[in-house]
Amino acid sequence: MLYSEKVMDHFMNPRNVGKLDDADGIGEVGNAKCGDIMKIYIKVDNGVISDVKFQTFGCGSAIASSSMATELIKGKPVHQALELTNKAVVEALEGLPAHKIHCSVLAEEAIKCAIEDYQMKKSC
Ligand code: FES
Repeated sequence: MLYSEKVMDHFMNPRNVGKLDDADGIGEVGNAKCGDIMKIYIKVDNGVISDVKFQTFGCGSAIASSSMATELIKGKPVHQALELTNKAVVEALEGLPAHKIHCSVLAEEAIKCAIEDYQMKKSC
């Protein structure tokens, strides 16, 4: 099968879908080639990602990657969430086809972007 059971599960039943109206950081990224867009919202309490939501307008792998990535950073300290790599997302999804790896890169970038947004807001 092209997609693992984990990918299918997170695509069919994505976790943490939606938006946070009181987000502390928002990250939005897109891939110019495929046109997919991913938006991640984070809530931070005492240096920990207490809540995270995503909105992804894109392919199934992008939805599964966002879902898994949000699960991987939920409840983690910000500095640890910042270290999340697309490789870790792919591993947690038990693999993605080669031409779909960029979908997981989008998830890594969106999370980094949301954390940078949070850090910038915090410093001023
Ligand atoms: Fe571009 Fe999936 S095809 S994010």
